[in-house]
Order: sequence, then C-alpha cells, then structure tokens
Amino acid sequence: MARRLQPTLTEIGDAARALRQGKLVAFPTETVYGLGGDATSDRAVAAIFSAKGRPSFNPLIVHVASATDAVQFAEVSANAQAVARSFWPGPLTMVLPRRRDCRISLLATAGLDSVAIRVPAHTIAQTLLTMTGLPLAAPSANPSGRLSPTSADHVLADLGDNVEFVIDGGACTVGVESTVLSLLDDKPRILRPGGVPAEAIAEVLQEPVTIETGAEDSAAPRSPGRLLSHYAPSLPVRLNAAAAEPGEILLGFGPSAPKDALNLSPIGDLQEAAANLFALLRRLDDPQYCAIAVMPVPETGLGIAINDRLRRAAAAR
Ligand code: TXA
Ligand code: MG
Repeated sequence: MARRLQPTLTEIGDAARALRQGKLVAFPTETVYGLGGDATSDRAVAAIFSAKGRPSFNPLIVHVASATDAVQFAEVSANAQAVARSFWPGPLTMVLPRRRDCRISLLATAGLDSVAIRVPAHTIAQTLLTMTGLPLAAPSANPSGRLSPTSADHVLADLGDNVEFVIDGGACTVGVESTVLSLLDDKPRILRPGGVPAEAIAEVLQEPVTIETGAEDSAAPRSPGRLLSHYAPSLPVRLNAAAAEPGEILLGFGPSAPKDALNLSPIGDLQEAAANLFALLRRLDDPQYCAIAVMPVPETGLGIAINDRLRRAAAAR
C-alpha cells in the first residue's frame, strides 16, 4: 500500500528521491491528482501506463516547473509564448512540436512528434518539480477510463497498490483537468476543454480557437482523453435530468434542485461545480442505485469542461 506523505519539505524530499530512482509518486495539482514518474525514463513511463491500465497509444502530459524548462523539450512559437505568459503556471496544457533533441521518453509521447506540456500552479507540484529537477510525466492518478481523483483518499482507494507515495495536498481547487490546447499548426485547437475556458485563450491569441469535442473512437485518436466513454463511474449516468426516476439518485445543480439532493453548486457557480464534480460522482456511485441522474449545467465557461466530462461519463460503454 502506498504511503501518504504530508506536504512538508522533508516528505516532499522523500518523494523527489523516489522519483529520481524511477518510482511513481502521486501528487496534487490544482486540477486533479497526477500519477507522476520521471518523463525521461522509459521504465518509469512504462510503470505509469501499467499502473493505470492505460493504452500505450495515449500520450502523457509532461509537467515542468516553468515555461523556461518547456523550451528544452518543445518548439515554443510566438503564440505558445503568449499563451504561456497568460496561463502558466495554471490549468493549461499545450501540445507543441517535440524538439529533435528532446530527452522525454518516446513512450511518454506515444511515438508522436509532438509533446504535451503543462506548468502546474499548485505549490506542492511546483516544489516537487523543483526538487527533482526532472520533467514529470503525470496522467490523472486513476485507472484508465474512470473518474479522476481530486483528493489523496481517491488516489489511495484507486491506485494505492501501484504507487510508492501519495502526497496529501487536500482537495483540488479547480477539479477538472487542464485544457489541452494544440498549437501544432496555424489553427489553435482545444483537444480537451478544461480549467482554462476557450474564450480566455482566444482573447490572448486574438483569433478564434476551435473546440474539438467531437468524440473519436478510432484506434489512434488525436487526444485520447476524447475517447467517447471516459471519466466514468460504475453506474450509468443520465444527463439533463429534471428529477430522479425511481431507483436513481439525483446530482443537482443550482438553486432549483431539491434541497435533499447532493448539489454541484447550490448557488449555481460553475467554479464550485467543477471543484465538486468528481468527488460527488464518486459519492453517488453506489450499487444501491440504478443510475445517477444529473441536472443540466450551463454550456458556458467552465461549464463546457464539466459537460464534456459528464457526456463521456454518460456515453455507452
Ligand atoms: O489536469 C491535467 O491535465 C492532469 C494533471 C495531473 O496535470 N493530467 C491529465 O493527464 O489529465 P491525462 O494523461 O489523464 O490526460 C492527458 C490528455 C489526454 O487526453 C491525452 O490524449 C492528451 O492529453 N495528450 C497528451 N499528449 C498529447 C499529444 N502529444 N497530442 C495530443 N494529445 C495529447
Ligand atoms: Mg485522465
């Protein structure tokens, strides 16, 4: 069973040492907990794929401490620099051309000639990255296809046997994964909506940013977080529910929800709803019910990321 570490400098130091030895450490970011390993080590990256049961065609996000570090691994265009200045550190991942001399394991990028890079803002993630001095590959710390973890307890319950340490940083404040923005060609595209809304990126780039939420189910999707069924609890999920049908349990949103229902945000705040999303879906994922019925969430700002996760949770498996 993994050891739970407290976020002291001594214990983060233990985690950094384990990472340098090629072991896996789960750590908090402001979005969700990541399952981290040395991104330059084929062995550590292979251990991540195996711990998650993740198909190896699905590349991992590489986390670095600052935009300056990103330059070692990726070609950073003027657009990418502008986006980095506005949103790093933060809940944003950029898919950029992989540099020829990039030291990242080819397994981490699934053999693609691009690399997904993120600079997380969370203090614990920042400290860990600085202490290891390594780029860390870190997918969400959950079994492939299931709900992402937003607390150390979620990670211990799901992957406790497969990691050395889990650094306990409490609940994640953003609660949905980072926005994955591809800047591989002259058309900026969001491959996965997330913590940074599309409009904010469009404003910085001064051009439209398309959201490619269309689910793909081919064998080699461009961003496999877009696989149709993903982020799924064990129970079926029914969307846009006005109320629970017999046997169902309701997940409410906003002030019109029944008072006794669990509510993503009683005041209808999308930021609060995103932060609660995965934890509440986990709480309601109880075999005494036949399905989780979810009230509608507005399709604006962070609501786009929330609805993206809900649609995949509800998709046929
Ligand atoms: O918030 C997050 O992004 C969390 C925290 C831990 O940083 N990480 C996370 O990683 O959600 P993961 O591996 O569960 O999701 C990574 C997404 C996947 O949809 C993957 O397909 C996409 O990023 N991705 C990674 N590298 C890519 C690449 N080179 N081209 C296109 N998509 C890529
Ligand atoms: Mg994931």
